[in-house]
Amino acid sequence: MHKMLWGGATSASQYEGGFVDGKGMDTQDCRPYLPRTSNATTETRLLDQKQIDEAKKKDSPYYYPFRVGTKGYEYGLDDIDLFKELGLDIYRLSISWSRLFPTGEELTPNPKGVKYYDDLITKLHKAGIKIFLTINHYAIPLNLVEKYRGWTSKETLKSYMRLSTFLLEKWGSIIDYWLPINEINAGYFSPFNGVALVKPKNGKYSYNDIFLSLHNQFLASAQTIKKGRKLNVKGKFGAMVSCFCYYPLTPKPEDNLELVKDEEINQWYCMDVLSKGYYSYYAFPFFKKHNINFEITPEDKELLKNNTCDFVSFSYYDSSICTVEENKNQTAGNLVVTTKNPYLKATEWGWQIDPIGLRTTLHKVYDRYNKPVMIAENGLGAKDSLTKNGTVHDQYRIDYFKAHFDQILKAREEGVDVRGYIAWGIIDIVSAGSCEMDKRYGVIYVDANNKGEGSYKRYKKDSFYWYRDFIESQRKKK
Ligand code: BG6
Repeated sequence: MHKMLWGGATSASQYEGGFVDGKGMDTQDCRPYLPRTSNATTETRLLDQKQIDEAKKKDSPYYYPFRVGTKGYEYGLDDIDLFKELGLDIYRLSISWSRLFPTGEELTPNPKGVKYYDDLITKLHKAGIKIFLTINHYAIPLNLVEKYRGWTSKETLKSYMRLSTFLLEKWGSIIDYWLPINEINAGYFSPFNGVALVKPKNGKYSYNDIFLSLHNQFLASAQTIKKGRKLNVKGKFGAMVSCFCYYPLTPKPEDNLELVKDEEINQWYCMDVLSKGYYSYYAFPFFKKHNINFEITPEDKELLKNNTCDFVSFSYYDSSICTVEENKNQTAGNLVVTTKNPYLKATEWGWQIDPIGLRTTLHKVYDRYNKPVMIAENGLGAKDSLTKNGTVHDQYRIDYFKAHFDQILKAREEGVDVRGYIAWGIIDIVSAGSCEMDKRYGVIYVDANNKGEGSYKRYKKDSFYWYRDFIESQRKKK
């Protein structure tokens, strides 16, 4: 059996801050912090042009948390010392596109941005920590959105290829795992974050724009894999979706059929293309039903077929329920709102905690794609409090880890080829869904609040010591 890697992750926009040194404005820089009115807040997930114009004003009264992150741009190298002490086998980070190519149209990258990543990558490599690099995690240069309508345009694809080609050429001999696009199915649920679509005036996104954008992201992924293989880079290439582990609300056949259909479009649609190399049979009737009509050329088909991913990965935070009935008993979840499951407890944000659902998902993903599996994101978003003596007693997070790790190890015993677990937000970062600091995932606490006040000093939580000992114990078993 292959070695299992235990890791941690951050994304550039949620972690770095560093809105300096020539970094261009990106889509996440435009999202303000707004006090939460519900668990499933969408006010800042789906931005319209008015909100973007507000964000561009020098004197806007709003606080824009992604311009500050948790100051990884300043403290990133010291944080790696903490990751080393934690014993991480692997660290997942993402690149800020607009730090390297501020408008997305430059032909050469911003030297200060290159230096920042070079220092990080070199230090991680020297520390013996494997690197999982996400080329694009949500944020894209705002210029590409305003000038070309984001991922609907082949101009954005060209710009992305300048970014990915630069990365492959520069760090191809170091990076262990490449992920072209974070949670590619997010484009469907969260079109601003996922595919950089601005909310239309009538509030209704066009399905055609969304599915055309996803097609361009598929091409971006396949072209990157093609390029990387041509350059003979060291790393493996992955694809990633968000998984929801669906249950039918009742044993009614209609609910079960609904589950199959929801799974197809919501969960498998993108991974089928990226891992199998072609659009699955259910895609075209779906396009017809929703008047989706974009061009898939013979060259596109050839490219997708010949450049599928080496491994499949997913994020998993909670499970969901499918039903044909209208159901008012709803709760929030990652990217989607779902029906409450009476058998599960939920986080303070309403996300239903389901470790067995993770094991089920591992089986389903492995059975469907037959490729090595990486859990690219998982973790508990919770409120933490820093005590006077600089500790955080987060037993709830330790319990969450224990329960999920137990199920992962069982899935391995049952034959699933799962190679890695990457804990989300290993150090506290700004929440991607609700733009707040209150929702923390880290085993390392960062002293900052929702408005960006605080010392940004780092403190080890109880879960830090627990995860360190767990990783150590797993290493001894190998
Ligand atoms: C995933 C994203 O969907 O969920 C992350 O890839 C995000 O960027 C994570 O942070 C957790 O969501 P949230 O809203 O709790 O930050």
